[in-house]
Amino acid sequence: MTADEKVTLLHGPMLGMVPQAKRPPGVTIGAGYIPGIARLGIPALVESDASLGVANLGGVLRKGDVATALPSGLALAATWNPDLVYAGGKMIGSEARAKGFNVLLAGGVNLVRDPRGGRTFEYLGEDPLLAGRLVAAQIGGVQSNHIMSTIKHFALNDQETGRNIASVNFDEASARESDLLAFELGIEGGHPGAVMCSYNRVGDTYACENRFLLTDVLRRDWGFSGFVMSDWGAVHSVGALTAGLDQESGEALDTKRFFSTELSSALLAGEVPMAAVDRATLGILTAIYSQGLVDHPVIGKSAIDYAADGAVALRAEQQGIVLLRNQDGILPLKAHPRTILLVGGHGDLGVLSGGGSSQVSPVGGLRRRATATGSFTGYGYGGTPPLEALRTAFPDSVITYIDSTDLPATIAAAAKADIAVVIGEKFSSEGVDVRDLSLGGGQDDLIAAVAGANPNTVVVLETGNPVVMPWRDKVAAILEAWYPGQSGGTAVAQVLSGAVNPSGHLPVTFPADFGQIPNPVLPGSTMGPPSKQDKALYGSAVTSPTFDIGYPEGSDVGYRWYDARHAVPLYPFGFGLSYTHFAYAGLQAHGGATVRVTFRVTNTGTAAGADVPQVYVTLPGKARRLIGWSRTDLAPGQTRTVTVVADRRLLARYSVQNRGWLVAAGPVKVEVSRAATDPVLTASVRIAAAQLQP
Ligand code: GLC
Repeated sequence: MTADEKVTLLHGPMLGMVPQAKRPPGVTIGAGYIPGIARLGIPALVESDASLGVANLGGVLRKGDVATALPSGLALAATWNPDLVYAGGKMIGSEARAKGFNVLLAGGVNLVRDPRGGRTFEYLGEDPLLAGRLVAAQIGGVQSNHIMSTIKHFALNDQETGRNIASVNFDEASARESDLLAFELGIEGGHPGAVMCSYNRVGDTYACENRFLLTDVLRRDWGFSGFVMSDWGAVHSVGALTAGLDQESGEALDTKRFFSTELSSALLAGEVPMAAVDRATLGILTAIYSQGLVDHPVIGKSAIDYAADGAVALRAEQQGIVLLRNQDGILPLKAHPRTILLVGGHGDLGVLSGGGSSQVSPVGGLRRRATATGSFTGYGYGGTPPLEALRTAFPDSVITYIDSTDLPATIAAAAKADIAVVIGEKFSSEGVDVRDLSLGGGQDDLIAAVAGANPNTVVVLETGNPVVMPWRDKVAAILEAWYPGQSGGTAVAQVLSGAVNPSGHLPVTFPADFGQIPNPVLPGSTMGPPSKQDKALYGSAVTSPTFDIGYPEGSDVGYRWYDARHAVPLYPFGFGLSYTHFAYAGLQAHGGATVRVTFRVTNTGTAAGADVPQVYVTLPGKARRLIGWSRTDLAPGQTRTVTVVADRRLLARYSVQNRGWLVAAGPVKVEVSRAATDPVLTASVRIAAAQLQP
């Protein structure tokens, strides 16, 4: 390869920002494009977002193009089912390939540290083991199509406020045991071709020029052999190349063309060694060849079986819906009710999805598009409308919809109906965090009023984040349906009718109130606008002067924080009800080199269903942490034996001094639980001391 050919691979535009006449012919417009080298048979990288389907920025990138929309990341995580998440990745990867893409910018795995995070809906929850194993499955599914996936956003980009300027500062050991562990597990298990470094700074150095992250952790410690691409507009120097960044994505969004014109000058001036270009080129080519982009080239476009793909999205939502409350077994709605009133949440239009780069225009399109402050895509409703799905699921019932703008009329209608189903919706988006944890828009009052008029009120939540529920004890039942995806309306109706037994379990804690979370005041939320100098220095995307983000919880993200502080959340991590019941027995726990437990799960109820028994350990002086789980489908009366073996990193603390994991000898409490705060079987074992290399 010539020097110019190597540099060609190191940068590229968003094709949508390139004048039509200058665009390569026949290339599908997506998020990014890196030219290939025809002389050498190296294909161009044609890149699309993202983790929930082939995104289309609200229909802007490819007018009229649609794709199957998976339910949100939290819904996928709530399935606790790696095989299903793999199937979801395989499906969206196949649609990306059919549309002409050979890179899918999937694999979002930032931990949910703050429940207000604007991209919480995209991610896989608060626990590094659950998120890491599920993102590995997603990446594996995407890449099974011989296209490349990313894992992103590396690292600690855990809030949207100030994402282009803020510096996350906290100790390395805590990062290694939480956010970085999720990435480590995802890379080990999924082998992504690329890592996408994030916008934020870590320890005052931008993630995309952070030698500690991109060279020491990623390559020296984890042996990552692919390449690092930047997030779009996340490059701030040509020196990023020597720090470990390999490719500048969406180059027009940066303040300079760092990996083209600036790099050429720096090479000529000897400021950047050619060896850095060779390292970057090797990483990119390694990913291209190892992911099959040469041996299985994406040529043109091909047909998509949207019905079959919609069935995958349906299965994901069926297993991702979490039943939070079911007073007196009102659900499933056994004897089909004569009349059902569906209230609010645009239930006649479709279901809600999250905003930003991951937004998919679902099959059937997005209806009623609306703008939202801070969201560059706005939002709309798509997929199967809940009203239509309810009518299919309850053919003998009279089902009416009311949009709740006229509250007295809504209350009157609710009083007459056998059942009232209220949809509580809350939009969230990349680019902006939500201000609080309430549903907003007067929905809390609406739900309370409907429940006051009808004791048989069921609430279905379409939210991207955890929410508080001041009306919780007034309603009969509550489902968390997240952003339900292409066939989500159908899945909700099937759970209400009992055709599907809900089996989702929370991948994120639902706080009772702000006072319980580590940073009650969202870092940066009180800053003023950026100065001209800030914009010049940090890029035009900055929304505030620079500020620091500290995470007092350290590695005790989510339920671990609540455990350490003996705080009782509204709903705990791992919680989820079923229409049947499960018993756990026969715990056998073994210590030594690691923790190994076996126990029996029995379906003691009358309906088939799936349970997710979780296994937690508590080390002396530490908060409990998840070491494993098993999603188990059981017929009534059926018993199955489950075995869980701990990854020893979860029994260890990270030692910066020893640059490795240290397992201390001593007693460990073991719990087999229904949720983080609901142990059923307990034991104590002793583990041996060990030092694990990274
Ligand atoms: C966005 C996102 C990233 C996405 C990229 C391309 O700003 O942070 O997740 O893949 O840019 O759209």
